[in-house]
Amino acid sequence: MTVLLRRLRAMIAADGPLSVAHYMAACLFDPRDGYYVANPGLGADFTTAPEISQMFGELLGLWAVQSWLDMASPDPCALIELGPGRGVLMADAWRAARSVAPGFALAAFPVLVEASPQLASAQNARLAPLSVRPRWVNRLEEAWRGPMMLLANEFLDCLPIRQFVRTPLGWHERLVGLDGPDGLGFVLAPEPLRDDALIPPALFDAPHGVVAEVRPSLEGLVDHLALRLLAHPGRALLIDYGPANAESGDTLQAVQAGQKLSPFAAPGLSDLSARVDFSAIRRLARACGLTVAGPIGQGHWLEALGIAARMQGLASANPQRADALAQEYARLTDAAQMGALFQVICLSSPGLPAPAGF
Ligand SMILES: C[S@@+](CC[C@H](N)C(=O)[O-])C[C@H]1O[C@@H](n2cnc3c(N)ncnc32)[C@H](O)[C@@H]1O
Repeated sequence: MTVLLRRLRAMIAADGPLSVAHYMAACLFDPRDGYYVANPGLGADFTTAPEISQMFGELLGLWAVQSWLDMASPDPCALIELGPGRGVLMADAWRAARSVAPGFALAAFPVLVEASPQLASAQNARLAPLSVRPRWVNRLEEAWRGPMMLLANEFLDCLPIRQFVRTPLGWHERLVGLDGPDGLGFVLAPEPLRDDALIPPALFDAPHGVVAEVRPSLEGLVDHLALRLLAHPGRALLIDYGPANAESGDTLQAVQAGQKLSPFAAPGLSDLSARVDFSAIRRLARACGLTVAGPIGQGHWLEALGIAARMQGLASANPQRADALAQEYARLTDAAQMGALFQVICLSSPGLPAPAGF
């Protein structure tokens, strides 16, 4: 039994079942035993696009430069990243951006929004050789306000979700309760919701037994992005795994050492995430008055930005890496790998040209 499991069981025994959102937040960010605080296993438990290939971060860096040019080169401006992991994406993006546009590197400064002290120190180590001085904040609300390009890869999938199940009596919240002498499992709240406003409208008439997921913090995040993007020119590029159109079902998943396992098997020692509903982002952003491009599949987007040419350029310079580069390219772009599972969406200040790649 993990330390966190023992504590969560004691908490549930005393106060009753937890919402899935509360459980996810504890598993990921409990200040003592949360996965990202105590055991961030990025690279060991799972691998993200920037960790697969330098081409990913480089193309995002070039995309940021093009966005900066589209905004008439504001100085100063922030290159903000939400959830930078081990800092690989920002390091590759900054290196590529600086090499094509030295003026960008003079005008822009990186801001890293990171809640994990351990990962913030890994980011510091990764970025130090680039002689760039990033600023760190715990929450986006604390970051410098002004013109910005914001990047977020596999950040939204970690934001806690709530789950609801349709029964003949209505929608009941799915909660995390005790299961046997040393486990945890799903239970249903005894009373149905009084108000269905939380349920995505497309699922109102879903059959009994269907699970609906909602991510309560998404609305606050999009509202906050709108506050910034309506006050200053900017763009937010969000990349994650999930459907382009709302769907039902339980998508909460735990991963450890590259294997999926029950979300209750190793709380605090496995990563927890759930698919991102891109149609909700599009709807919320449009309602705030932002211009939205996408979502489109990551494969198409990277192809439109020129990943094939970048691969060929790198392979000509390093022929011994040609096969490895071809494999990286395939992992990022193939529809059967990350190319279609991952979606890209861009929220922009009104009045800017269409963003590159869409
Ligand atoms: C799955 S990792 C992705 C890392 C990186 N973007 C990449 O592509 O390699 C999630 C990152 O988001 C951070 N994170 C998750 N939720 C957060 C929150 N609410 N506030 C700040 N950082 C958060 C984690 O600590 C971690 O750095």
